[in-house]
Amino acid sequence: MMAAANVFQNRIGGSWQGAQNGQTFPNYNPATGELLGSFPLSTEADAHAAIAAARAAFEKWRLVPAPKRGEILYRVGELLTRHKEELARIMTQEMGKVLKETRGDVQEGIDMAYYMAGEGRRLFGYSVPVELPNKSGVALRDPVGVVACITPWNFPVAIPTWKMFPALIAGNTIVFKPASDTPHSALRLVELLYEAGLPEGVVNIVFGSGATVGEALISHPDISVISFTGSTESGRHVAMEAAKSLKRVSLEMGGKNAVIVLDDADLDLAVEGILWSAYGTTGQRCTACSRLIVQRDVQDALLGKLVPRIERLRLGNGLDEQVDVGPVINAQQLEQIHAYTEIGKGEGATLVIGGEMVRDGDLARGHFYRPTLFKNVRPGMRIEQEEIFGPTLSVIAVDSFEEAIAVNNNTKYGLSSAIYTQNINRVQRATRDLTTGIIYVNSGTTGAEIQFPFGGTRGTGNGHREAGIAGLDVFTEWKVVYTDYSGKLQKAQIDG
Ligand code: UN1
Repeated sequence: MMAAANVFQNRIGGSWQGAQNGQTFPNYNPATGELLGSFPLSTEADAHAAIAAARAAFEKWRLVPAPKRGEILYRVGELLTRHKEELARIMTQEMGKVLKETRGDVQEGIDMAYYMAGEGRRLFGYSVPVELPNKSGVALRDPVGVVACITPWNFPVAIPTWKMFPALIAGNTIVFKPASDTPHSALRLVELLYEAGLPEGVVNIVFGSGATVGEALISHPDISVISFTGSTESGRHVAMEAAKSLKRVSLEMGGKNAVIVLDDADLDLAVEGILWSAYGTTGQRCTACSRLIVQRDVQDALLGKLVPRIERLRLGNGLDEQVDVGPVINAQQLEQIHAYTEIGKGEGATLVIGGEMVRDGDLARGHFYRPTLFKNVRPGMRIEQEEIFGPTLSVIAVDSFEEAIAVNNNTKYGLSSAIYTQNINRVQRATRDLTTGIIYVNSGTTGAEIQFPFGGTRGTGNGHREAGIAGLDVFTEWKVVYTDYSGKLQKAQIDG
């Protein structure tokens, strides 16, 4: 039986409340199957109440000077630092990735808090000379209104902070709909925001399904911006719904990221980067490496070093510090990953290692999949083109630098890519010709830092970026103020 203490609520305006119809949904540990708690299965009415609270709070929050908003975010950074271990443990228990990664997830939130707190004293607009005498012009960033933040389970603290902190520093208010697989991390984040002194109603959290709560948010006229991270399928739906009412939408979706290993690469260094970016987070990052593009003459040497290391990766509960790879998020995802193993075999790729669910011992209670590697994968195969979101790496042998670049670029996604080479000319050509939003030289495909724009080309996004200065753009509206102090009517662009 679940203790009453594990029944959690929505935060709407100043109060904690259950779903209006009293329904709940369970939160499970994917490593053990243990029931962790229950959360409101909210209705459309709950979402509407949250929007109304955010709308009311906006009229006050937009008038709080940005440096003062920043002071609250500095305190959020301090509180996240103080609660880093607690949050990391909550996160590992509800979504499975190992503690050193969940600590890193919180750290990304801390970094974002301090970065955006600093923006409170910048939020740069600009002033440039005007054409007419005794007249000035200045371009300012205004908040847009109420923002819907719809977030995934793989970065349960970091990704919400990429959305909420820039939105808040710019003066917007928020309705936050976290993924149903990671409600507790989201709830603790919101609790800490209020502990830091956020005024009531500025951030509202509503738990529940995308079909009900997500839908209510994206279709509501009082939502001005939707910031969404998740599947391409859902992102497309969000964009189409939002277009009906001309809402702003920032989408961050899938990836099919590759590590390229050229024939002059330091293979030992490449092995470390490949292991970390293909099997870290159990492959469940949009930046995960799911393709290894290798020059044919070094393929055997590379795989000779890589495969034994994959074999030695320890699977288990992410709370155990000895474990390298945790479970995948849920039973449905486990099935999906395994379906891709069958697809790969059917397409004629060679399964070198892994390719099965773990059915024995303690791990049988959780959703564990063996780290998997296919070779003899050809460009165009489904396992080479489609996002699997699991610990599955496809090796594609190529004959030249040019072919490596072409294979990398030929997917419907464009988030990150990595190239291992010691040749400066190849580095320069690669960084010119790779068409992803993020490129790593002599490092894996993961590990973006929050002071730079994060996002990708093609089907990865819709042109927006999160983080860095660029992360403010979707949450601000340019406003230009011309002041004419000549005391007479001056006409711009009119001769004479
Ligand atoms: C994601 O996978 O959705 O660059 C985000 C990285 C992390 C963020 C990943 N900093 O891998």
